[in-house]
Amino acid sequence: MVKVWLLALMILYNGFSSTVDGIHNSTRPDFVNIGALFSFNTSVGRIIKIALDAAVEDVNSDPNILGDTKLRLSLQEDSKYRGFLSIAEVLQLMARDTVAIIGPHSSVTAHVITHIANELQVPLISFSALDPTLSSLQFPFFIRTCHSDLFQMAAIADLVDYYGWKEVIAVYIDDDNGRNGISALGDKLAEKRCRISYKAPVSPEATPEEITNVLVQVALAESRVIVVHANTLWGPKVFTVAKNLGMMGTGYVWIATAFLSAILDISSPLSSDKMDEIQGVLTPRVYTPDSELKRKFVTKWKNLTHGHTANGPLGLSFLSLYAYDTIFALAHALDAFFKQGNRITFSNDSKLSSLKGDNLHLDALNVFDEGNSLRRNIYEVNMTGVTGLFKYAPDKNLVNPAYEIMNVVGTGTRRIGYWSNHSGLSVIPPETLLSKPGNDFRESKKLFPVIWPGDTDQKPRGWVFPNNGRLLRIGVPIGVSYQQFVSQVPGTDTFQGFCIDVFLSAVNLLPYAVPYKFIPYGDHKNNPTNTELVRRITTGGSFSKDYLIHEIGIDESRLVPLVTQEEVARALKNGPQDGGIAAYIDQRAYMDIFLSSRCKFTIVGQEFTRNGWGFAFPRDSPLAVDLSTAILQMVDNGDLQRIHDKWLLSRACLSQGAKLEVERLKLKSFWGLYVICGSACLLALLIYVIQIIRQYIKHQAEEPDSPDQNPSPGSSSLRRFLSFADEKEETVKNRSKRKKMERISYRSSEGGSSSIISNKDYVAQPSSCIADSVSNGGSEKVFIKVV
Ligand SMILES: *[C@@H]1O[C@H](CO)[C@@H](O)[C@H](O)[C@H]1NC(C)=O
Ligand SMILES: *[C@@H]1O[C@H](CO)[C@@H](O)[C@H](O)[C@H]1NC(C)=O
Ligand SMILES: *[C@@H]1O[C@H](CO)[C@@H](O)[C@H](O)[C@H]1NC(C)=O
Ligand SMILES: *[C@@H]1O[C@H](CO)[C@@H](O)[C@H](O)[C@H]1NC(C)=O
Ligand SMILES: *[C@@H]1O[C@H](CO)[C@@H](O)[C@H](O)[C@H]1NC(C)=O
Ligand SMILES: *[C@@H]1O[C@H](CO)[C@@H](O)[C@H](O)[C@H]1NC(C)=O
Repeated sequence: MVKVWLLALMILYNGFSSTVDGIHNSTRPDFVNIGALFSFNTSVGRIIKIALDAAVEDVNSDPNILGDTKLRLSLQEDSKYRGFLSIAEVLQLMARDTVAIIGPHSSVTAHVITHIANELQVPLISFSALDPTLSSLQFPFFIRTCHSDLFQMAAIADLVDYYGWKEVIAVYIDDDNGRNGISALGDKLAEKRCRISYKAPVSPEATPEEITNVLVQVALAESRVIVVHANTLWGPKVFTVAKNLGMMGTGYVWIATAFLSAILDISSPLSSDKMDEIQGVLTPRVYTPDSELKRKFVTKWKNLTHGHTANGPLGLSFLSLYAYDTIFALAHALDAFFKQGNRITFSNDSKLSSLKGDNLHLDALNVFDEGNSLRRNIYEVNMTGVTGLFKYAPDKNLVNPAYEIMNVVGTGTRRIGYWSNHSGLSVIPPETLLSKPGNDFRESKKLFPVIWPGDTDQKPRGWVFPNNGRLLRIGVPIGVSYQQFVSQVPGTDTFQGFCIDVFLSAVNLLPYAVPYKFIPYGDHKNNPTNTELVRRITTGGSFSKDYLIHEIGIDESRLVPLVTQEEVARALKNGPQDGGIAAYIDQRAYMDIFLSSRCKFTIVGQEFTRNGWGFAFPRDSPLAVDLSTAILQMVDNGDLQRIHDKWLLSRACLSQGAKLEVERLKLKSFWGLYVICGSACLLALLIYVIQIIRQYIKHQAEEPDSPDQNPSPGSSSLRRFLSFADEKEETVKNRSKRKKMERISYRSSEGGSSSIISNKDYVAQPSSCIADSVSNGGSEKVFIKVV
């Protein structure tokens, strides 16, 4: 019930508000003048004219949009992107009291005439002037109804990064649009740690010869990834020249900005000659989602262009779609403008009329008083057009910038994926991903395979060694010690050593030729510090000295710099007392060499840094990756070990087996221990023997007439002693326990609480003797508490 009431209220309100409109409809003029500034006598101009005319007709025939007010479109020929003539032309339009101007086509013209638009407060609405800098605060009356080239450049930067290239060459027209677009590309590449390595500007009026000269320089450069930023008139000439120069073959990557996709859309099908020139090129195409409105427009377009194709094909491109929506957006904005009770008034520009007294008739130019209101209303438009949702983001860019990435293949193009500001590169249409949060489409971040120039599906490496005589310059540190690693062959400019062999073997494994030149570094007197050399190339480095001082905190005064191996050996031998050193710290590789010929010294402790050996390259050098791969390959196939053995295997020590001993404890090391143990054992044995002899003597004295006594006195006393000793061992063990127990009940005559028994006491009384472990020399005593 409540809902029904609410509905009724809303209907009532709507009715009321339309009568409010009625009050204001007196402010609505019968006609609103709008101007359009284009080169209508070009193929692009023709399709724009068709789209604009169709849109005006559709707006005027739909009273829901502007009521009874009709749009009146004045077309003004723009003289093919010529700055000064455009000024005169736009002034003519302004003199007709236009409230807005659609156009111009080019960013160059836009830069010139936007000053006039600002002065007269007439919105300049363009869907084709895409220079990113036109959206700056400098040009408040320039309104873009398409996506800025900034987004297209972001898409290209993402592409370059996706394929792992680091450097691109930019070929562009040297005008505002070209320079600013390429500058935006540079910014976007920098975000991906890529860069433009060479900029090749071309004059806007360049002849084929001039283009040839520019492209020859491009071919001599290192990068093979070429971005062409041009317009529909000039762009195709670049490819014609490139094809003639053989630059459309294998190894090259060509990325053309959206001008090429526009040409392909408008002029499709191109002649087979033209298609041949652009095989394998990648080009972003402004993406508009499929919709019922769009499909209707496509049908309408076919009807509209039917019979107009005498002067060339008029295919449907983003330009027609955005031209159509621009008129609708302006109509919606004007409707809101009138609904707010605004009237259209003009007033003489006091600044201009003060320039009277000449024949320029500048006083005919009027300021659009409500220009600011209309401008605001355009930015507040919220409609669904043939291009999809037409709405501005707070930063005054249209929402949802998106492109399809097209690959020119055969007689047409093939879509390899999409790019959108929201989701980046993907094979899934942007509107599908729009509702998902950022990490949901990570797995869809890929592209379909590309057919590259030269009709190959192998991704080009993206760079070559520059063909212009530049060699890879390799700094070779020439030290005075450790010649095994690297040294200059005396009297020549050739080099040898472990590092040189590793480098040459790795370079041989690369699938391409690398012209190089070794450049010695160092004064032949001191070892050059690697840190300094590395600093000359790039990535500062920390080596032993820095580490000891800054990390471990050793006072610098305690460090002694030594240059040659001989110096080191002498200093170590002398020791700190004799002005030498206690320890020598260097890199492991040097250490191994040092020790290989000096068996007296050894390494103690563990390595304290992870610094290894390597070839230093400038940051992001494409060669670094390939050479690392080659060196890994050498590890696999054993080449690295062979080179290592050739140069670094210790000759002096290892052959004598001495090197191994250096680091091990030998039998000799334990002699002290052996002496102590041996003498202790010997002493114990001696004492034992003495005791046995004493006992034997006593035994003999006490039992001279023992019945088991051997009757023959002639048999040696030695035998009797031995049997005594033998028996003693047995009986002592057997009796000991029993005798101990007997002694416990024995009361000491001293009446003490304990008795101390030594083995001497009971041996004299065999019947009551107790034993203890005398075998170890008789030093032990048994302490027994008597109860
Ligand atoms: C105002 O609008 C109403 C209805 O839309 C119409 O009947 C009326 O004639 C209009 N008045 C003027 C002055 O145009
Ligand atoms: C259009 O351009 C062609 C040549 O490009 C020229 O011959 C023709 O006169 C032009 N038409 C108009 C109306 O300017
Ligand atoms: C094409 O336009 C004509 C009039 O210009 C119209 O009669 C016809 O129905 C249209 N056809 C389609 C398919 O829209
Ligand atoms: C502006 O000045 C011109 C020429 O001086 C005059 O014809 C025109 O009526 C003026 N317009 C307004 C709105 O005052
Ligand atoms: C834009 O229009 C849509 C429907 O046409 C509406 O849902 C949305 O809220 C509008 N947005 C704004 C900001 O007015
Ligand atoms: C594009 O994306 C950036 C970062 O995600 C965002 O700040 C910006 O508003 C987006 N622009 C548009 C027009 O959607």
